[in-house]
Amino acid sequence: MTDISRLILNNTPSVYPVSKFNRISNDKKVYIETYGCQMNYSDTEIVLSVLSDFGYNETSDINDTDVILLNTCSIRENAENKVYKRLDDLKKYKKRNPNLILGILGCMAERLRNDLLEKRKVVDLIVGPDEYRKVPHLIDNLIETGEKGIAVKLSRVETYDDITPVRKKGVTAWISIMRGCDKFCTFCVVPFTRGRERSRNLDNIVNEAKRLQDEGVRDIWLLGQNVNSYRFENSDFADLLDKTAEAVPGVRLRYTTSHPYDLSVKLLEVMAKHSNICNYIHLPIQSGSDRILKEMNRLYTVSDYMKVMRLAREMMPGVGLSTDIISCFPSETEDEHKMTLDVIREVRYDGAYTFAYSPRENTKAYFLKDTADEETKKRRLDEIITLQRKISVEINQKLIGSTMPVLIESLSKKSDDFYMGRTDCNKSVIVSKTGPFVSGSGGLNQNRYLEIGDMVNIKINKVNSATLFGEPAESHETHF
Ligand code: 5AD
Ligand code: SF4
Repeated sequence: MTDISRLILNNTPSVYPVSKFNRISNDKKVYIETYGCQMNYSDTEIVLSVLSDFGYNETSDINDTDVILLNTCSIRENAENKVYKRLDDLKKYKKRNPNLILGILGCMAERLRNDLLEKRKVVDLIVGPDEYRKVPHLIDNLIETGEKGIAVKLSRVETYDDITPVRKKGVTAWISIMRGCDKFCTFCVVPFTRGRERSRNLDNIVNEAKRLQDEGVRDIWLLGQNVNSYRFENSDFADLLDKTAEAVPGVRLRYTTSHPYDLSVKLLEVMAKHSNICNYIHLPIQSGSDRILKEMNRLYTVSDYMKVMRLAREMMPGVGLSTDIISCFPSETEDEHKMTLDVIREVRYDGAYTFAYSPRENTKAYFLKDTADEETKKRRLDEIITLQRKISVEINQKLIGSTMPVLIESLSKKSDDFYMGRTDCNKSVIVSKTGPFVSGSGGLNQNRYLEIGDMVNIKINKVNSATLFGEPAESHETHF
């Protein structure tokens, strides 16, 4: 199918002119930086796919590119500040090359379009999360007319279901299964920047997973702002996960992010049934106080949440658990802060992502009075982080000497002499690249060092709060 027929079939902008500029040249370069959550990384792959149909190839060389795009995040103020700072850095590239095109994609484009347009003169393109199909056309128009390109409409139907993302070669891949969020937590900007919930066709997702398995992918994340409110015809997220796990037995499946309100027993049953679904749940609690949860419009109580945690542990012994916590939501008292610490002690999470509350314009909480002073804010967040670190270390220390299956995913970020892999409950493990040979005895058919994509038994010999360290064990190769 040609690019144009694809666009028309999709019922999206069939009004687009065939791009003059883009049809002439087939060797244009685009450089993209991605900020924020995995959804944004997955969206970057979609943008690259849309652009590749019009002759653009990704480059990692910012000094030799036709277009620079920043795919941005608005979740907290510091995420936005990072991008603003980067925009200041990027001015020098525009000065050097006046033809260089600079675009802002994603949540900041949606939320801060006016500010970007009026105050950041270096920005040429502003494209929100539901308008990525327009990027090549906006670039064309800019080149032909000099007009800045703005497309920030949110859609009730756009899921990019027909677009095959341009993925980096590797063993891990993301599949976006739904977009947007209807929960309207009072602190969160996502419903405003990413719009209403909509889900992709179930068969298309399963087929995408199968294709990835055929291409050698061994680890797939199903992604959405709120994956467990996925709904397509009569199927829910549990049905989707069940069908995908069955269709790709050679792939380890994980998902993020889920909301406690939508986490069903049926979903836990599906997770318990399939050995290729990670024994891991990330379930944001946000606060240990029922009053604050109500203020946040989280739709559950601490006791509801605890029931889900207990059930998960009963149904999936050894399940890895992590959470998100926001400290110092407006009006949080010292006692309510202590309730959050109590929940952390009771659940004993493997890990937690902890954030200081950041007021976001347009959200309901923005209008609440921020009660804590800076010192209290810092102390409460520190207490949460210190407690969680202590628990994570205690849990991880118990793993020293044990052997567990690890999927080797990539080189370690800190050193090319080490690999990074993950256990079934999503703990990252650092393994020496040139450690003992993976020998034939474990089922691998040759004597060789570890390689990315291997699923091997690793004996843990050292830990910290976030990472395990180990070496291949006697009988090396393993499977889900
Ligand atoms: N301030 C601080 N943290 C926030 N999060 C979302 N919005 C805010 C905010 N305004 C956190 C929540 C959510 C995670 C993705 O980001 O904990 O689960
Ligand atoms: Fe934001 Fe709440 Fe939706 Fe998560 S569930 S994206 S925190 S509104």
